[in-house]
This record gives sequence, C-alpha cells and structure tokens, in this order.
Amino acid sequence: MRRTLIAALTLVGLQATADEGMWQPHQLNTIADELKQAGLQLDPAQMTNLSQFPMNAIISLGGCTASFVSPKGLVVTNHHCAYGSIQYNSTEQNNLLKDGFVAKTMKAEVAAAPGSRVYVTESLTDVTDKVRGAVKSGLSGNAYYNAIEENEKRLVAECETSQDYRCEVYSFHSGASYFLIKQLAIRDVRLVYAPPSSIGKFGGDTDNWMWPRHTGDWSFYRAYVDKNGNPADFSKDNVPYTPKAHLKVSVGGVDEGDYVMVLGYPGRTNRYRTPREVENEFTWVYPTAKRYREEYIDVIKSVAPKGSDPRIKYESTIAGLANYAKNYGSMLESYQRGDMLERKIAFTKDLHSWIKADEKRTAQYASPIATLDTLIESSFEHQQRDLLVNYMGRTNMWDVAKSLYRLAHEHSKDDSQREPGYQQRDMNRFKQSMQKVNRRYDPSVDKAVLLHFIKQYAALPKSERIAAFDQYFNLNKGFNEQAVSKQLDKMHSNTSLDEEAVRLAWMDKSVDEFKASDDPFIRFAVSQYDYDMATENHAKDLAGEMLKAKPAYMDAIIAYKSSLDQPVYADANSSLRITYGNVKGYSPKDGLMATPFTTLEGMLAKYIPGDEEFDMPANLIQAINDKNYGPYKMDKIDSIPVNYLSTLDITGGNSGSPTLNGKGEFVGLVFDGVYESIIGDWDYDPSLKRAIHVSSPYMLWVMEQVDGAENLIEEMTLSE
Ligand code: ARG
Repeated sequence: MRRTLIAALTLVGLQATADEGMWQPHQLNTIADELKQAGLQLDPAQMTNLSQFPMNAIISLGGCTASFVSPKGLVVTNHHCAYGSIQYNSTEQNNLLKDGFVAKTMKAEVAAAPGSRVYVTESLTDVTDKVRGAVKSGLSGNAYYNAIEENEKRLVAECETSQDYRCEVYSFHSGASYFLIKQLAIRDVRLVYAPPSSIGKFGGDTDNWMWPRHTGDWSFYRAYVDKNGNPADFSKDNVPYTPKAHLKVSVGGVDEGDYVMVLGYPGRTNRYRTPREVENEFTWVYPTAKRYREEYIDVIKSVAPKGSDPRIKYESTIAGLANYAKNYGSMLESYQRGDMLERKIAFTKDLHSWIKADEKRTAQYASPIATLDTLIESSFEHQQRDLLVNYMGRTNMWDVAKSLYRLAHEHSKDDSQREPGYQQRDMNRFKQSMQKVNRRYDPSVDKAVLLHFIKQYAALPKSERIAAFDQYFNLNKGFNEQAVSKQLDKMHSNTSLDEEAVRLAWMDKSVDEFKASDDPFIRFAVSQYDYDMATENHAKDLAGEMLKAKPAYMDAIIAYKSSLDQPVYADANSSLRITYGNVKGYSPKDGLMATPFTTLEGMLAKYIPGDEEFDMPANLIQAINDKNYGPYKMDKIDSIPVNYLSTLDITGGNSGSPTLNGKGEFVGLVFDGVYESIIGDWDYDPSLKRAIHVSSPYMLWVMEQVDGAENLIEEMTLSE
C-alpha cells in the first residue's frame, strides 16, 4: 500500500485494512513507515535481510513453520506440526500421543519421523528473467510448460551444490515473477518435547478452527549436524546445530492492542481468482471434497476402533482429513451467508471497464483475459472424475505402486529430464516416504477406503469412466460389490509392497521388471500408466496456456489496483512472508463480542473426564487449582492467558510460526484461525479475520509446573 494513502486512511480511522497482506521480505522497505507506526521497534530494513535477526531464527519444516529458541538448535513449532513424529514414536504400549514426551537430556531425544527436515532460508533471488524471460517465443501448451519447468530445474541444479542445500523456484502472481530460494537442509531432526494430547490437542476436532480456544499447541525439536557444523544423516556423533540467532522467549506475553507480527511460510491463498473460479470452487469442489473427507474418516473409524493399533496408525491421516473437512465447511457457510461472489463480479466489471477505457490497456490485456476465461472453463471438464481419483490415490498401496512404477520410467531418462519429485535430488525423500508407510498403513483400512470410493466411481457416467480402470476391476458389466471386495482382499493379501525391504528393492528395478511382476498392485499400476500419462499431459497443456494467460491477468490487476492506490501483495505460495497487526477480539456474529484472551479457569470449565477431546491431565488440574501462576499471571484477567486472538493475515503453512512483539521477542505460536475467518483465504475481511495463538506464558508455565520440562526453559533465553 502506498504510504500517503495509509496515512490518509489512518486519519479517518480505517487503519484496519493495513493488517491485510502477506509481505515478501523485500517489500518491507516500502511499508517501513506503516510498520513503525503500527509498533515495530526493530529496523524494517534489518528485517529484509535474511542473514540477520530475526529472519535467521525463522525456519521451515516443509509444510509448517518453526523457529530457533536456544543457541543449541532447539526448535519450537506446533504440536500438530510434530504430530507425525510423535505418532511415529508411539505404540499401543508407549503412546507418546496420549502421554506426552519430555527428553530430560539430549541423549533421551528420539529421531523424528523419516524425512523430517529443518530448512533455514539463506537467500531469495529474483529469477523472473531466467525463468519466464528465457523461454523461446512461439511455444504453447505442454511445450511452454516444459520450457518454464526446464528453466526452473536448471536454476535449482546450479543452486543445489550438495544435499545439504535445498533450492526451489517459487512463482508469484501466477507466474508473473519467479524467485529462487536457497535453504540449508538439516536432516538429523529429533523430537525433544511434546505435551500430552490432552494439552497439545485439547479440544480436538470439536474446538479446531474455533474460538474460544484452550489448546497448548506446541512441541519441540532439535536440529543436529556433524562435528563440522554441516548437515548429516542421523548419527550418535552428531552435535546440536548452532543457529546464527535464536528468539528470546517472553515471560509476560502480550496485552490487548499490542503490535504483533508473524514470520512464516503461508501455503496457499486465492485472493485474485476470477468469479467463475470462485463459483466453481464453492458450488462444486469444496462441497464434494468435504463429503469425500468425511466419508474417508467414517470408513477408517468403522474399520479401526479407537485405541487399536490400526487406529493409532491412522490418527494423523484422520486429523488431516478432519482439519480440512471443517475448513471447507466453514468456507461454505461464509460463502452462503456473505456476498463474496457478488463483490468479485463487481470488481471484475470495474477492472474490465478500466481496461476498456484505454486503447493501450485494451491491446495489452483484453485478449489474454478472454483466453484465460476459456481455459478456466475447460479445466473443469473432468473434475468429478479427477477429484474422486485423487481421493482413491491417497490410499497407501495404490500410491506406493504408482510412485514406484513412475520412478522406473523416470529412471530411464537423463536426470535433468526427469519429472520433479523423481530426480536424484528427490531420492532421499522418496526413500523415506517408502520407509514410513508401515507406521501409517493397515490393509483392512486401505481396502475399505478403496472399496468405498470405487463404488462411487462405478456410478460415474460413461463419459467420465477410465477404460483401463474399468477393465482392471471388471466394472464394464456393472459394479458387483462382492466381487470387487474379494478382488481387493486378494490384492491386499498377495501384494508384498507392504514390506519395507520389498518397496526399497523396487526403487532400483526397470520398467520391464515391473511389467513382468505378478504383484497385484504393481500390475494395477502398470495397467493404469498410459491413462495416467495421457491425463498428465493434458493437464500440462492446460497449465502451459494458463502460465501464459494468468500473468497478463495479474499484471492488469496490479496496474488497476495501483491506479487506486490499493495494496498488492502476492498470494501465499509457501515462501517466507511477514504479516503484522494487533492483539484484538472480534464480533463473530450480531450481538456477540469475543474477547482476545482465554484463561486457565476457562479451560477447566471445558474439562470432561475421560473424554477423547476434553480430558485434562491430573497434574494440570491440580496446578490450576493451586493457582501457582508466578510471573506468568496476567493481572487484567486474573489468570494465565492460554490462547489469544490477533488481526494477522495467516493461512495453513503458518502453523508453528513464532509470533513476535515489536522488539522481536517470542510471545507465542500461531496455530489456527477462527471459524468465521477461513474464507479469508479467498477474501480478506478485517472485521472477521482473526488468527489464534498459544501464549508464551502458558507454554512456559506448563513446561515448568506440569510437564517437567524445566531443562528446556533453562536452555532458552527468557525476557520479561
Ligand atoms: N486448524 C489448524 C490449522 O490448520 C490445525 C489444527 C490441527 N488440530 C486438529 N484438531 N485437527 O491451522
């Protein structure tokens, strides 16, 4: 946003809009005045520098955010971000999910789930000229898509000098600009501390996405490197990583109205979509995907009773499915109640009149926008079938077999020509994903989910059916549930892909060896391959055309918005962003006002003994009754603040991000958004957009009084 306009808005009391925006680090210079006025005490220029505090204390876990909180590589993130690792180390007898885990010494720390990484961003470089600018003219569709991808892969290959570095090219504004991001990739990551789920996931799926909230959503990892300070595979000889900086942890936390900011890696937002895309998403995609997720969960629960070993294996899958089923549900409610589509239509009309009012603009934008509309329409063509296949493809044996067979095909090409995900640089991760399977797999669940979705597939109209699939499951003469069920039984009992050693061995086999195999899931993968490739090529054709049309559309929006002095920040794309705002309550509906803090006594009021979601550890209840709150108490609420609200503009991927005050001190972790704000991924509403944070005083108090993690407090730097 232009500085002059911000000043003007502030004068008339409209500064709320300044909380919108996920800013790229280099943009902070342009909003320096706004940041200072909002309460930032650090120098904004310093924050554009990734090798300085506080940016060099911020890390990505790939999908979640985290930060360093000690000079010995101690990392804090959300409990739900470390969930996979906690589950990975849990068994029916030694259930860390249920009981929590505290390593009292470094020796007692356990390896995180295979593939866990700590990524420290070292540089961000604008490479638009080398990606988009270096494509030969005249290419279209698939060829254009591949040319962009080849440029990206070349830059990544040049940047990744060893497996100690992970480089990635990120596209901004739908391909209008590109940045190369270089990260140090630490691969010996250990679980240090997780509270029991009755703290870390208190409220469960009932409270998820909700306020008032009382979740202690934190966990700790530690990053290890070899004796020379370089990333290394897990080894007893490794030593804790020394970060260039770590955050000081605030004992006092925040007050209402305080400046707060979140630095992190937000995943995806869709703030610049066309009305048609919005309509399709909200009238078809979300309702359908929500239903698939709910059915998927129901099937798992019906086959794997609570507390059983199979159920422990699927808890993480269930949590992921449930999280977004609820997310979609909220967006659908907001969509039906609100007027987002109407406003998108009005905005698009204004944009079009602004373009038409000028010959130059018309020449520049009119044709690509018309093309874009056609492309969008054709992208919906087979969405029914594709979404169903997507959910079937989430089952383990299906996914394993298809990935392994694809790998065999990709292996026959030169490394630089291979599909992303199947290049040499990806093999460690690939191998780890193959190693992880058994902790998340049970044949009876896998089978039941497949059967459930095949039944729906078989009800699709003829035009949407896949010949190779119909043939493999004998669906041409109609769907016979008993027959398909029997066939799946056989597939699951005869496959040996449920053995880790077998999966790893297939990683080195040739296409011909796959073709000669009689493993039923490999035969399935082989039989579907031609169809899968044809679908992928078609999708790339479309994606290539989109990559040409969308940047023009975004250029038009950027030009139009800046003519109105309106802020332009790129949609979230999993790259490092900064959002800032205040601690503030909100009105979720007419007649109700939510205060920004919840208390320990409020948590106790939710307590249901023995409940799956609202049980509480006895020592926590005791500590609350003792009211031994020490320096963590907030007088205003006569308690310790458990969770709090802020106006920050965050989304999934920001989970685990540290929340910092104006001095750059750690005052909590962001872990959720309120129910009414979820549609904010499409449309920011300053009156409803609220992030939920767990407070640093609550975290410290539980560590000290409840979980016995004083050793970690000692290691951290506290600040009053
Ligand atoms: N809603 C949170 C987010 O996506 C995730 C919370 C996970 N917890 C759960 N009960 N499923 O930011």
